[in-house]
Amino acid sequence: MTFQNEILGYPVVVAADALPIARRAIRARGVPFVVLHDAQPEIAAIARSLARGSQATIAFDLGERRKRLATVERVLDALAQAGAERSTLVVGVGGGVASDLFGLASALYMRGVAFLHVATSLVAMADAAIGGKTAVDLTAGKNLAGVFRDPIGVFAHVNALRTLPLRSVREGLAEILKVAIVGGGDLFEALEELAAHEFSRWPWPSIVAASAGIKASIVARDRLESGERALLNLGHTFGHAYERASGYAITHGAGVALGLRAAGLLALRLGRFSEREHLRVLALLALLKMPLYTSVPARAFLAAAAHDKKRRNGVPRFVLPNAIGDVAYGIEASRKDVLAVATLMQRAPGARG
Ligand SMILES: NC(=O)c1ccc[n+]([C@@H]2O[C@H](COP(=O)([O-])OP(=O)(O)OC[C@H]3O[C@@H](n4cnc5c(N)ncnc54)[C@H](O)[C@@H]3O)[C@@H](O)[C@H]2O)c1
Ligand SMILES: [Zn+2]
Repeated sequence: MTFQNEILGYPVVVAADALPIARRAIRARGVPFVVLHDAQPEIAAIARSLARGSQATIAFDLGERRKRLATVERVLDALAQAGAERSTLVVGVGGGVASDLFGLASALYMRGVAFLHVATSLVAMADAAIGGKTAVDLTAGKNLAGVFRDPIGVFAHVNALRTLPLRSVREGLAEILKVAIVGGGDLFEALEELAAHEFSRWPWPSIVAASAGIKASIVARDRLESGERALLNLGHTFGHAYERASGYAITHGAGVALGLRAAGLLALRLGRFSEREHLRVLALLALLKMPLYTSVPARAFLAAAAHDKKRRNGVPRFVLPNAIGDVAYGIEASRKDVLAVATLMQRAPGARG
C-alpha cells in the first residue's frame, strides 16, 4: 500500500518499499544528482540502490554528536568536490540527523539546491523530514542554527524500519504519540488497539502515513511557526527540560513521553483536561513501555525549564491538551503549578521499576 499527500506542495510518500517511487521521482527531475547518506551499513545499502546514474554517492559518519556546523562544511566541500552545480539534485538517505544536516547543506550550497530525502528512521518518516525545518546544534543548545526550506519530496521507506534499533523505534513512537494526541481521532484509537501487539505486527505504513499527514496539515497552516505549528511542541517544554536536567541521559523520546504525562497533569490542574482522557493517555504510554516518572528533582527541572528557547519574558508557555484531538498552545502557568506537576513526575526515592 502506498500513501501520498501533497498538503505541503511537495509529495510525502509512505510505502513499504518506497525506493522504486523515489527512483522515479529522481529520474523525473532530469538533472544530475548526488546521493548523500548516513554511513550506517543498512542505510548505505539503501543509498547504493538509489545510486545508479548519480554523479557521486557519498557516505558520512553521522550520529547526534556530529549534527554540527563542522559536518555541514564537510558536506558542502564534498558537494563541491563531486562537481555539484546549481541545478544538481541532492538526495539524502538516513534518519533525522541526515535530513537535518543534508537539508541544511542543500539550502546553503550555491545558495540552495533541490533536496529530496529518503527517510530510514521512524523519527525521520513521521517527523523530521516533513515540514522544511533543518538545523544543527550549537554548544549553547540543540537545533539553534538552521533554516526553513522545503524539500522537493520526502519518501518514507518503511521496510527500513526492520533494521532500525528498538530504541530508535521508541524515539519515533513518542513523536507519533504526540501527533496522535494533537490530531486525535483514528490515529489515537489505532495506537490504543495496537499498543498490546508486537511492533513487528503493526501496520507501519498506515501509522506513519497518518502521523505524517497530521503533521503536514498543521505545518501547512503555519509554515514558519508563528502560531499553530507550536502544537507540535506538545510534551516538549517539559521534555526538553528533563533532557537538559538529566545531562541528556534522558533521550528526546523519553523526554517527550514524560512531557506528555506532565502536560496532562498540568492541564488537569488548570481544569482544562478530563481525568478520563488523561487516563487514556497514561494507559497508552504505559502499554508502550514509555517512562511515566523521572528521578530528576522538581527544582532541577525548574532550573532547566528556565532555559527553554520558546519562553517569552522568561516564562515558558505550555502546549496543553483540552481533550485528545483538541490541544491549545501559548498557555501560561504559574511557577507553583509547574512545580506541583514536577513533583508528581518525580519518582519517590527508593521506588522500584
Ligand atoms: N527538523 C525537524 O523538524 C526535526 C524533527 C524531529 C527530529 N529532528 C531531529 O532528528 C534527529 C533524530 O532523528 P533519528 O532518531 O532518526 O536519528 P538518527 O538519524 O541519528 O538515526 C538514529 C540511529 O539509527 C540509525 N538508523 C537510521 N535508520 C536506520 C535503519 N533503517 N536501519 C538501521 N539503523 C538505522 C542511524 O544510523 C542512527 O544510529 C535529532 O537530531 C532531531 O533534532 C528534526
Ligand atoms: Zn521532538
